[in-house]
Amino acid sequence: MIKKIEDLKLKIFKLIEDAADVAALENLRVQYLGRKGEVTNLLKTLKDISIEERKKVGPQLQTFKKEIELALDDKVGKFMEIAAAAPEIDITIPGKKISVGHYHPLSIVEKDVRRIFKAMNFSVVEGPEIESDYYNFDALNIPKSHPARDMWDTFWLQDGQKLAKGGDKLSAISHKLLLRTHTSPVQMRYMETHKPPFQIIVPGRVFRYEATDASHETNFNQIEGLMVGKDVNLANFKFVIQEFFKRLFGKNLEIRLRPSYFPFVEPGLEVDLQCVKCGGKGCNICGNSGWLEIMGAGMVHPKVFEAAHYNPRELQGFAFGMGLERIAMIKYNIPDIRMFYSGDLRFINQF
Ligand code: DAH
Repeated sequence: MIKKIEDLKLKIFKLIEDAADVAALENLRVQYLGRKGEVTNLLKTLKDISIEERKKVGPQLQTFKKEIELALDDKVGKFMEIAAAAPEIDITIPGKKISVGHYHPLSIVEKDVRRIFKAMNFSVVEGPEIESDYYNFDALNIPKSHPARDMWDTFWLQDGQKLAKGGDKLSAISHKLLLRTHTSPVQMRYMETHKPPFQIIVPGRVFRYEATDASHETNFNQIEGLMVGKDVNLANFKFVIQEFFKRLFGKNLEIRLRPSYFPFVEPGLEVDLQCVKCGGKGCNICGNSGWLEIMGAGMVHPKVFEAAHYNPRELQGFAFGMGLERIAMIKYNIPDIRMFYSGDLRFINQF
């Protein structure tokens, strides 16, 4: 019996020494000191041996049991100390949110515009932001000396003359480079390389050399439209544009056409849209008029067709141009155009 106890002692203390964690120690406690544990069983056998022997073995076994308990407690204590020394981690603290990027309000509206026109079979076309004065003005029936050039305050590029001469096939007619003041020059670029019938829109950035205020920026975006065919007319235009606004704002809105002047169209029109907010009753958005000025438009001028080497007697078409910021401002009720480019996250993160 004594020998058995000695062997067990060696074994158990080695196991306690090697235990990897508190759970392993608890397993050992159950295995040896539990109700059916090995040491417990030994204690139970005491009643079967002689009194003499019991007197010798009994106290030894009791001490042994105490020693195991102490060794276990001791080792548990060591694990606790290690845990306490480690940095405190509060696993109940909510995790940090990973912020996911999102589209800028102008991108959202531009995507909408592209989607709606594509669904009506329009192609989306783009053109250069650095443009020659030929495409920006001359080709659109705005000759050099014409006062209509004053309608667009232009950023001229200093080295424009030099650059324009550099191999461009149009250098013979184009004299100076500028930052395009509107997306209309892409009308001509497209017509030069395509045959009607066609219908396109041209989203893009444009630049104006002018003072900024709540509704003016030196840099903004336009959507140009052009549809050319044998008998494209203003009624077609009215339908297309009414359908466009219906899909963009999700409701039927009246359109009003007023005579206006743009050198590249005849007749030229100013398009008004029934106020999206008040429905025409008059409010702060429409300046109490019930109407929103939304775009310039008209029937393509014969001179423009001639510049594209089209025969104006065989073809006709409509063109229009609108500001993307203006549409976004109406759609989201944004009071100041400068907010789009402010980089202010309190604004941007609302979309
Ligand atoms: N390009 C003009 C502007 O920026 C807008 C415009 C008016 C475009 C009439 C057109 C048009 O195509 O037909 O002010």
